Amino acid sequence: MDKIERIKELKREKNAVILAHYYVDGAIQDIADFVGDSLELARKAKSVESDIIVFCGVYFMGETAKILNPDRKVLIPYYKAGCLMADMAIAEEIEEFRRENPDYAVVTYVNSSADVKAVSDVCCTSANAVKIVENLNAEKILFVPDKNLGSYVAEKVKNKEIKVWSGYCPVHQKLTVEEVEKKKKEYPNAVFVAHPECKKEVRDLADFVGSTSQIINFVKETKANKVIVGTEEGIIHQLKKQRPDIEFILAYSEFSCDQMKMITVDRLLNALEREQFEVEVPKDTAKKAKVAIEKMIEMS
Ligand code: 13P
Ligand code: SF4
Repeated sequence: MDKIERIKELKREKNAVILAHYYVDGAIQDIADFVGDSLELARKAKSVESDIIVFCGVYFMGETAKILNPDRKVLIPYYKAGCLMADMAIAEEIEEFRRENPDYAVVTYVNSSADVKAVSDVCCTSANAVKIVENLNAEKILFVPDKNLGSYVAEKVKNKEIKVWSGYCPVHQKLTVEEVEKKKKEYPNAVFVAHPECKKEVRDLADFVGSTSQIINFVKETKANKVIVGTEEGIIHQLKKQRPDIEFILAYSEFSCDQMKMITVDRLLNALEREQFEVEVPKDTAKKAKVAIEKMIEMS
């Protein structure tokens, strides 16, 4: 029996559900029961009734699923698949900021550890960050950890004082203005779509800025026949399915998240066979982080 068939069989036998982010390999997106952006995946994880959730994504996504649905066994096929940006903020520093700035509310991007979420007022994703900051009952906000998404939010929400943390996604950060201009010159009729984790100068060149799902929705409707993609290459798998008539051009040649690519078909198979690697979040941390994540879901 081939590996994909065996995965499907194990899934049925063990009453498991596979959730996957758009940045994992296309073969995994195709086996998954549900593929989505971070917000959709969090919502989906919360509603799963199967015994096991296998989360094909990076570690913080598995943690969020466990926090929202603690009675399920949550597995991640490779526990070393972490988000590089999530490591750029630690709870102790956020707590110190809070002690020194008690008038600030802390809004934390879900690309963060459970520890950091636990010391935050509310979480957000790239799909709802503007809405959350706009509607939060606070005039002063610390946005953690992504400085690029933070600056995007600050551009949109003009009536609040927004400080941004110093984190960033190294994969999105690498995209330069020069690279985008080069691609635009090469494909003059193409539209350029970008994730808000890109630098401001890059976002300013975009025809559309949004989360992975928002980019997919934009592309579904576009009249253009060429699209320059300013986010991780895994998304092109879905974009091609939606619009086989469009030519997709990656904004730079190595726009790939090594962490997401650690999730392979072999590791997914092992995860189901051996029921590894189980995601656990300490109870006290989970309880506090859940408040911030649930508040995000309520507000979005
Ligand atoms: P989305 O929420 O847009 O899917 O983004 C997740 C992510 O990790 C972007 O780098
Ligand atoms: Fe984290 Fe960047 Fe990878 Fe997204 S693309 S998971 S932000 S390292």
